[in-house]
Amino acid sequence: MASSLDEPAELRAEVERYPWYHTLELGGGVVTEGMFDHRPVLDRYPLPVDLGGKRCLDVATMDGYWAFEMERRGAASVTAIDLEDPEDLDWPASLRKDHDKSLDETKADRFALAKRALGSNVERLVLSAYDLSPALGSFDFVFCGDLLLHLKDPITPVERIRSVCTESAVIANVITRFRLYEKRPIAELDGIDNFEWWVTNLAGLVRIVRAAGFARVEAAEPFELPFRTGGDWRGLRGVVHASV
Ligand SMILES: C[S@@+](CC[C@H](N)C(=O)[O-])C[C@H]1O[C@@H](n2cnc3c(N)ncnc32)[C@H](O)[C@@H]1O
Repeated sequence: MASSLDEPAELRAEVERYPWYHTLELGGGVVTEGMFDHRPVLDRYPLPVDLGGKRCLDVATMDGYWAFEMERRGAASVTAIDLEDPEDLDWPASLRKDHDKSLDETKADRFALAKRALGSNVERLVLSAYDLSPALGSFDFVFCGDLLLHLKDPITPVERIRSVCTESAVIANVITRFRLYEKRPIAELDGIDNFEWWVTNLAGLVRIVRAAGFARVEAAEPFELPFRTGGDWRGLRGVVHASV
């Protein structure tokens, strides 16, 4: 039987059943041990402080950190989309069979648990970013974080985001630096060794968002997002604010 989650001990026991991607404060002192903790760098992301009255969309929500944050900032509604079946992700052929998929197998359960603990009204839909369209409705503000590097085609989903966005969007992604080429948009291709396809420099991220049809694109200062357990993981993040 599902626990009521009224008691921190019950919530903690539920939380400990899963590996977590996001560090989430769920109340009663219960905090998930996420792979990433965005809290110390939250102000590096140019999200509107006040989303009062706005219809918001979180693309690739995972455990829901950004969707819950938009709700916390007063959004009138928040829709969060993600894929369900780990097999539907754009795995490189070299990794599809043997890659550890445990984090992707339980993300719907983790999101549901966090939503229940927070008493949230965020609506989570199983939908690929490639399939976003105005049939879903329109959104005043869209957030999309750390998705593009995992996609074979990172530009079509940003076009799809543009097609549903009526005001502005924040697009964040892992980026890299190419020495002496800060201003030239450049991408590095993987697709074999890591679950990464195209990793661009900051100019490349700006270029993708402009190519997708946003009229004005401003880049924030890049920063490091540490991986909680350390290790060989790209830390540099680029974030852009885009207006229609
Ligand atoms: C690295 S996590 C990023 C989580 C969160 N957006 C953030 O910025 O912290 C990547 C997420 O993208 C989702 N994803 C991958 N391909 C997707 C697609 N085609 N459509 C929607 N979500 C996708 C994964 O399921 C996972 O939840």
